[in-house]
Amino acid sequence: MPVLSRMITNKAFLGATLAAGKSSHSSALSSQTVPTNSGRSTSGSLPTPRSEEEILSSPHLKAFTLSELKNATRNFRPDHLIGEGGFGYVYKGWIDEHTLGVARAGSGMVVAIKKLKPNGLQGHKEWLCEVNYLGLLHHQNLVKLFGYCLDGEKRLLVYEYLPRGSLENHLFRRTARTLSWAIRIRVAIDAARGLAFLHNSEEQVIYRDFKTSNILLDAEFNAKLSDFGLAKAGPTGDRTHVSTQVMGTQGYAAPEYMATGRLTTKCDIYSYGVVLLELISGRRAVDKTKVGVEQYLVDWARPHLSNRRKLFRIMDTKLEGQYSLSGAFKVAVLALQCIGEDKHRPNMSEVLQALEQLPLQTSRQAPSPSHLQQSPCPSPVSKSPLSHNYHPSPVNMSPRGSPMPPYMKTPLVKFPQGRLAEDRSGGGVGTQKITPV
Ligand SMILES: Nc1ncnc2c1ncn2[C@@H]1O[C@H](COP(=O)(O)OP(=O)(O)OP(=O)(O)O)[C@@H](O)[C@H]1O
Ligand SMILES: [Mg+2]
Repeated sequence: MPVLSRMITNKAFLGATLAAGKSSHSSALSSQTVPTNSGRSTSGSLPTPRSEEEILSSPHLKAFTLSELKNATRNFRPDHLIGEGGFGYVYKGWIDEHTLGVARAGSGMVVAIKKLKPNGLQGHKEWLCEVNYLGLLHHQNLVKLFGYCLDGEKRLLVYEYLPRGSLENHLFRRTARTLSWAIRIRVAIDAARGLAFLHNSEEQVIYRDFKTSNILLDAEFNAKLSDFGLAKAGPTGDRTHVSTQVMGTQGYAAPEYMATGRLTTKCDIYSYGVVLLELISGRRAVDKTKVGVEQYLVDWARPHLSNRRKLFRIMDTKLEGQYSLSGAFKVAVLALQCIGEDKHRPNMSEVLQALEQLPLQTSRQAPSPSHLQQSPCPSPVSKSPLSHNYHPSPVNMSPRGSPMPPYMKTPLVKFPQGRLAEDRSGGGVGTQKITPV
């Protein structure tokens, strides 16, 4: 594919590094600007683009000192490490709930503190982009950013702590307890709400990195989107798209975006469709341990999505048939629409509406609170599938998948406009993070 030349394994490294200052953030400010969208944020519309100084002086964010964050994490103690991604390491820490100041470790409010690896200009751009958007946008399905720290070359972010970690860990980690169908649908709805909020904001935001590792879960499995480093302001005026360097994550990035660099909200819809497929199948978007068509979830799943009788072949065997068959089929058809040709993809409000109409009970079980009682909140170290310790998803034996009773009739998720699924897209995308070289 023509995009291969633009792909590298980690978050971007452009070679250039920022001028290193040993001072606090104010003296390290550069002329870097980031396009901004206010959305339905509490701070209202702000002029765009904003300078780094403006972004960092958000009234919603605290500028932490490095020593405060060292205190909060007991000097980034290894046993406080809760995750690692391309951006850096994520630690558990404690701050005072009211003042956001120092708290005794183990008391006060738990936070997640992300420490940027020295990734040069691109790393700084993504850090600033995240501060910009999360300083402006506030929604129950977006992770809350309490503040940041900029000290010389050290860049950190302080978020609310989501005790159940990422959806990726729950779906693919071998030791994770199976997420029930009801929870999967709830997570899909929450994530759709987060995306719909971004897309429908007065100044539209395209998220550009929608994937299971960026969907975080709180103690009750409420889902929130994290990682706004690649987010981008949507097109304005008569423009249909924004032209960008191709960035995102292989397996999730829309094929037309990979080929042209033209970014629209429909690119997020494609990624959303891929995540729906991961929820249905329990398989990763890209799994290099498999061979042929099975490496790419979109290619492998697509032929089974519009046929009720074939669908069970791709359903996650870990669900052991405990799902609503008609619900699963509606989700499959919705996923097919999302990964279809861009102009036929539904918009996020339509996706949300379709999901909200789904039955949440399973086919064999009455709904009960136990559906929401999964494992106790885990606190292990998780790693990006793209960096280390890649754990492939459990094998779904094809053609024999999840058990499925022999009933089920014709499908079709109808959107308000009556649009139906069409399957004409190119499909296959590669692996790993896509960043400029
Ligand atoms: N606010 C948070 N609360 C709890 N855990 C978190 C939080 N933020 C991140 N994590 C954990 O840290 C892991 C790494 O997150 P991070 O965003 O750095 O990387 P990633 O999403 O896995 O990969 P990428 O760098 O490609 O986005 C997550 O998968 C999650 O398990
Ligand atoms: Mg992430």
